[in-house]
Amino acid sequence: MAVGGIKFRRRAFALLIGLAASLAHAAESGDVALIEELARQEAIYQSRGAEVPAGYTIDRSLLSYTKALPEEFDRALGVLRPDDRWLDIGAGRGQAILDYYTPKFDMLHFEGREERGGKAQAVAISIEDRRTEDWQAKAATLPPDKIVYLFGRRLREYKPDELGRFKLITDVVGGFSYTTTLSLFVERVLSLLEVNGSFFTVLSDVSREAGGSSPHYAGSPFLTVLTRADGSDLKVCAWLKSISCVQVTCEAKEKWVPPIEAFHVQKTCDQVVVPALTPVHFEAGTPPERGFKLAQ
Ligand SMILES: C[S@@+](CC[C@H](N)C(=O)[O-])C[C@H]1O[C@@H](n2cnc3c(N)ncnc32)[C@H](O)[C@@H]1O
Repeated sequence: MAVGGIKFRRRAFALLIGLAASLAHAAESGDVALIEELARQEAIYQSRGAEVPAGYTIDRSLLSYTKALPEEFDRALGVLRPDDRWLDIGAGRGQAILDYYTPKFDMLHFEGREERGGKAQAVAISIEDRRTEDWQAKAATLPPDKIVYLFGRRLREYKPDELGRFKLITDVVGGFSYTTTLSLFVERVLSLLEVNGSFFTVLSDVSREAGGSSPHYAGSPFLTVLTRADGSDLKVCAWLKSISCVQVTCEAKEKWVPPIEAFHVQKTCDQVVVPALTPVHFEAGTPPERGFKLAQ
């Protein structure tokens, strides 16, 4: 492929439609390397069958979510009532939601079973449509809108009131790991969360709160790198804790390969202010390598 060729640039420009304003400068400035990385990332999202890269996992079970996310996630899901709502951002095939809608889930979650009565509404969002026959079959057995699968847009492309509010939001190697606009993404997540609601997420190969961590792959940086305006290191956990109206806990899971850090962000009031991050580095991958700098 002729990287600098007119044909390539036109195609890359087309792929940029829908990407954040923060990356539009790549096209405007003719940053061909960045345009190429974005095109490679888009190809990963749109890959099908044998072309899906081995590292692009789209079918994690609810049990995998429970193991990856902070311990409180399992209980938070178990106590949801039928009129509560759960949003899974970057849901892949939506397997975690399908597992929630099984009798096995009720057998394993006795607490609140009587009060629960039924299940919460579960909304999956994904850039690409990865629904399976299992998803369609399960949806057909449930009341309309009990499980919903939205695709074709990134989280930031939904209008502020379009998705409604949620008591529980999860993201397991979805938008939080893949977005090119991290602060905008978290701002949007928190605007969708009810006060006292919880956002559970995870990052792989990141400088962890406890300290002493180093990148998993020799010679490569952490997958998500944050720096302050003066260029000094900023941990993702510390950045999340600097957001107003949230309570954050960060849990290192060192035994994972690569090690992960799991985050629980509880919203405590509506006046959320997320310190803005500017994207400074992006290399396509599963997940991509990203760098962000604190705006001030
Ligand atoms: C690696 S898959 C993970 C799927 C699922 N969570 C799992 O663990 O099996 C990444 C998912 O994140 C989605 N994704 C990435 N960036 C996103 C964004 N900004 N908004 C919504 N979905 C996003 C992709 O479309 C895909 O569904």
